[in-house]
Amino acid sequence: MRALTIVATVLLAACTAAPQPPSPPVAPAAPILPTPPAAVAGDPVEGLRVATRIGCNGCHGEDGSGRELWKDKGKYHLYSPNLTAKRELYDDAGIKAFLREGKTHDGHPVFGMPIVMFQHLSDREIRDITAWLRSLPAVPDAEKETTSMSPEVAKQIKEGKFQEAIDWGPHAGVQGPEAPPTEPSALGQHMAMTTCVECHGPTLDGWGGKDAPPPLIVAKAYSLADFLRLMRTGITASGKESKSGLMSEVGRERAIAMTDDEVRALKTYLDARPVGKPVHAD
Ligand code: HEC
Ligand code: HEC
Repeated sequence: MRALTIVATVLLAACTAAPQPPSPPVAPAAPILPTPPAAVAGDPVEGLRVATRIGCNGCHGEDGSGRELWKDKGKYHLYSPNLTAKRELYDDAGIKAFLREGKTHDGHPVFGMPIVMFQHLSDREIRDITAWLRSLPAVPDAEKETTSMSPEVAKQIKEGKFQEAIDWGPHAGVQGPEAPPTEPSALGQHMAMTTCVECHGPTLDGWGGKDAPPPLIVAKAYSLADFLRLMRTGITASGKESKSGLMSEVGRERAIAMTDDEVRALKTYLDARPVGKPVHAD
């Protein structure tokens, strides 16, 4: 509930010296019932800003119609679905449960969407994302390819044993706040947990493995000016594009949706945070 405060004001009449005629008896006042809180509506414009930062439209396409994502030969070929069709399967509470807990409309386990990151979203951000999602013009569910996978992977996902799906699934003990924090270090942590976790791991210390994105200790070597440049233009501290080009894309297309203050807060947090081990460290 955004600042919805009921202020009861009691006015005391000042006594005057002059005698007053007796007042007529008054009927007891009807009890004043608190007004039920109006459902707080999300803001679709802010929703688009958040969705851009955290990658909803990166993975589902600008218009939300879905696109090819990536493949692991012999295991799966992943596509994201059309959000303007899928949204009809969820009411607003359902979208919240999907993003926070990975609960799908028909109970199928999610694969290919980083719930591990979205479970950190605040209630307010989820409301705004939901408003954005509902505001997208409907795109017909065109004849296009959808995800395919080997029977073995499908079985493992169904049984909750597929490691990639477990890694990106919800992690215990995470509860998003009511609204994004305002204190810089806490805001920076919120930005990191809702923007960088997908690739840099649930504790930002990397997933481990040869080709995985690095632990975010790398950010400490950046000056604030170079970090701001990376988060705006995708140019790394070396003055070039990132190794695979992926981080440069994230800077230009996702981190760009952060305000300068949010980027500064993120850097403050990354500089101060204790460093741990990658998730799959040997
Ligand atoms: C890394 C890519 C990726 C990102 C980021 C992403 N999605 Fe998805 N999304 C997917 C994939 C893949 C699926 C299909 C998952 C499945 O059904 O197992 C999916 C499915 C969905 C569905 C349909 C679920 C169903 O019941 O079939 C909705 C709704 C959705 N995403 C909304 C969102 C929203 C909102 C965001 C941003 C908060 C988002 N997605 C971010 C990849 C992504
Ligand atoms: C979609 C995946 C993805 C996301 C999201 C992501 N990163 Fe990265 N990041 C990478 C990859 C991959 C690399 C390694 C360089 C490359 O190959 O692009 C990297 C490298 C980096 C580097 C080192 C760049 C260099 O080479 O000097 C920094 C700093 C960094 N990321 C910060 C962040 C921060 C902060 C966030 C969150 C705001 C973030 N990243 C979100 C994938 C990602």
